[in-house]
Amino acid sequence: MLLITGAHGMVGSYAKEVFGNENIYLSDIPEMDITDQNKVKKIFAKVKPKVVIHLAAETDVDRCEKEPDHAFRTNTIGTQNVALECYKYDAVMVYIGTGSVFNTEGIHTEYDEPNPICVYAKSKLEGEKIVQSFLQKYYIFRASFMIGGGRAKDKKFVGKIIQFCLEGKKEIMAVNDKHGTPTFAKDLLKGIKEFIMTGNYGLYHLGNNGICSRYDIAKKIVEIIGSDTKVISVTSDKFPLPAPRTPSEAIRNYKLELMGMNMMRPWVESLKEYIEDWRKEDNA
Ligand SMILES: NC(=O)c1ccc[n+]([C@@H]2O[C@H](COP(=O)([O-])OP(=O)(O)OC[C@H]3O[C@@H](n4cnc5c(N)ncnc54)[C@H](OP(=O)(O)O)[C@@H]3O)[C@@H](O)[C@H]2O)c1
Repeated sequence: MLLITGAHGMVGSYAKEVFGNENIYLSDIPEMDITDQNKVKKIFAKVKPKVVIHLAAETDVDRCEKEPDHAFRTNTIGTQNVALECYKYDAVMVYIGTGSVFNTEGIHTEYDEPNPICVYAKSKLEGEKIVQSFLQKYYIFRASFMIGGGRAKDKKFVGKIIQFCLEGKKEIMAVNDKHGTPTFAKDLLKGIKEFIMTGNYGLYHLGNNGICSRYDIAKKIVEIIGSDTKVISVTSDKFPLPAPRTPSEAIRNYKLELMGMNMMRPWVESLKEYIEDWRKEDNA
């Protein structure tokens, strides 16, 4: 049985499409609030999972900065509660890390040293450490600039830009000095499904291939949609935010490349498919 936590979020919205309807248990808050150890224990006792994909997290980076106790309780202690049950039930644990653990320019490999500068990234890195110290049968997959969820769930940058273009907004501003690696949530789950069959436990980067700025993504969305929206390139000091952002959360799937197993496609291809899916949903 496969147990997924945080299954109602952006990534979890592709769980059934990728893993099917059989032998899967989709959980989320409040039924399985990962900060409540008793609830976590109860669900494990009921499901007895062999594999757990742990997606539940507080992903609002600015909320994490303003409420660090909430961030660490959810992203670190919540992960500890899940990892302890995985240990008890001898289940394989899959944890999703983030490229925002890095604080340097450029594209990062698994061999670069993390140095998180915001509470969200710190709490997620502590989650990684817990998984690594409690378990042997684990996978940590770091992602970056997640894309997914469609109109209903995508409240992030890409969703907003698609929406603005479809509404015919004249101008949008996008920052040119923050870089990342767009990761289509559907590709991430497909990659996880394929890779966890191999038994090569450990920490991996699993983004779509490439590096770009938010400005590059916005330009590409406008081009794919064929809209007249003008994209204005600005620096991040134009948008002061509570949480500091790293100059680059871009990730390279370096270990998978070295192993000859990098199954991910370039980010532009995935973005095209995502926008096609969005349009199909709109026309349905
Ligand atoms: N989004 C990104 O850009 C990004 C990048 C790299 C890595 N990741 C990681 O990828 C994973 C999946 O992220 P996502 O993009 O799917 O995030 P998401 O859309 O925010 O989904 C997270 C889910 O977890 C739920 N949740 C929050 N607190 C919980 C709790 N205490 N107990 C149980 N469930 C709880 C959320 O419910 P509510 O909505 O009701 O709070 C939501 O359904 C996370 O581990 C995240 O850190 C995300």
